[in-house]
Amino acid sequence: MTCRIGIITASDRAHSGTYADKSGPAIESALTAYLKSPWTPVSRLIPDEQPLIEEALRSLADDEGCALIVTTGGTGPAARDVTPEATEAVCERLLPGFGEQMRAVSFQHVPTAILSRQTAGIYGQTLIINLPGKPTAIKECLDAIFPAVPYCLDLLGGPRVECHTDQIHVFRPPQPTTGETP
Ligand code: MTE
Repeated sequence: MTCRIGIITASDRAHSGTYADKSGPAIESALTAYLKSPWTPVSRLIPDEQPLIEEALRSLADDEGCALIVTTGGTGPAARDVTPEATEAVCERLLPGFGEQMRAVSFQHVPTAILSRQTAGIYGQTLIINLPGKPTAIKECLDAIFPAVPYCLDLLGGPRVECHTDQIHVFRPPQPTTGETP
């Protein structure tokens, strides 16, 4: 079964054509390098409007059947940065560890990493993760958090995701070998 992965770029300027979206393609190329099992990207480019981001998150999960949705942009403290609010509004449960880990890793590179409000959470059976807006920051953050993503998708009943071990080391906790059938 192919894993459908939503990629949302929330950016007023990329949406209006002021500049080209480099962040969505940066996510797609990182995932292409990681993933060995079949996957299909479903991309959306939208302005920094909370209702539009919420609508895109719900539609990628409900209509497009995405097991994972990653967003880029809109996680800073500026007035129009509303991606975490949209994520929190849509998700039934939050997974704060993703944001904590991304800030910790990013802080090794830039002190302004503490301005990031990135979060993650679960909507139905879909894992939603906010990444930062800067293309260079995307790979740093994905490298730090992606090892935990396939197991999270397992726990949500999503497709089994396998990765190239020379690109990323996925961690799945060892299953007990008691000889008992579950
Ligand atoms: N993380 C990394 N790794 N590298 C960066 O340059 N920029 C920070 C932060 N996280 C940055 C980073 C800055 S300046 C901001 S304002 C926040 O991400 C939010 O950025 P966004 O709204 O573009 O997502």
